[in-house]
Amino acid sequence: MSDAPKVFCLIGSMTPNGNGAKLMDLAIAAIENAGGEAELWPIREKRLPFFGETWEDANVAEFKSKALESDGFLLCSPEYHGTISGLLKNQLDWLGFDQFSGKPAAVMSTLGGQPNSNALNHMRLSLRWVHALVIQEQIGIASAKHAWNDDGSLKDEKVQERIEKMAVSLVDMCRRLE
Ligand SMILES: Cc1cc2nc3c(=O)[nH]c(=O)nc-3n(C[C@H](O)[C@H](O)[C@H](O)COP(=O)(O)O)c2cc1C
Repeated sequence: MSDAPKVFCLIGSMTPNGNGAKLMDLAIAAIENAGGEAELWPIREKRLPFFGETWEDANVAEFKSKALESDGFLLCSPEYHGTISGLLKNQLDWLGFDQFSGKPAAVMSTLGGQPNSNALNHMRLSLRWVHALVIQEQIGIASAKHAWNDDGSLKDEKVQERIEKMAVSLVDMCRRLE
């Protein structure tokens, strides 16, 4: 059995080949290069009801179990009206101390407009509330639709380097806190 730290990845947008999906692909590759195992919850295929809509849902049960088994988390949200998306918040609302407490997490956001840290800070706030340990490194991609080459790589190589550093730091923190 692999002892690679398991990172559970949550994405806050469903846009096919969208900015969040592209960023998540790069971050997952970076986590695996850093020696971790990354698994993205496939929110398009395995939708979650709104919190409280029902207490008996197979997707929710699987989602909570994967989060519980994970050693760390990676969140990626689009910025919507200056904050995180409802899609991401609903995923967080199904989880709590049991799944997050004492585990490291990293945050990323994509924005259509000018750079700011609203969604990043709001993810940090929610994660702090459930006693996750959010690492210092974070990724924010502004003017996101202009950020990509046709092959899905980032135009700005420095951002790619930052993703790789964040992934190394996240995997390292998972190992330290095991
Ligand atoms: C409802 C809505 C609200 C948005 N609000 C903001 C915003 O407040 N600031 C901003 O920079 N971009 C905003 N955007 C743009 C998105 O953050 C941006 O396009 C994001 O990268 C979309 O991610 P996706 O391609 O993964 O869906 C908004 C987009 C939508 C649909």
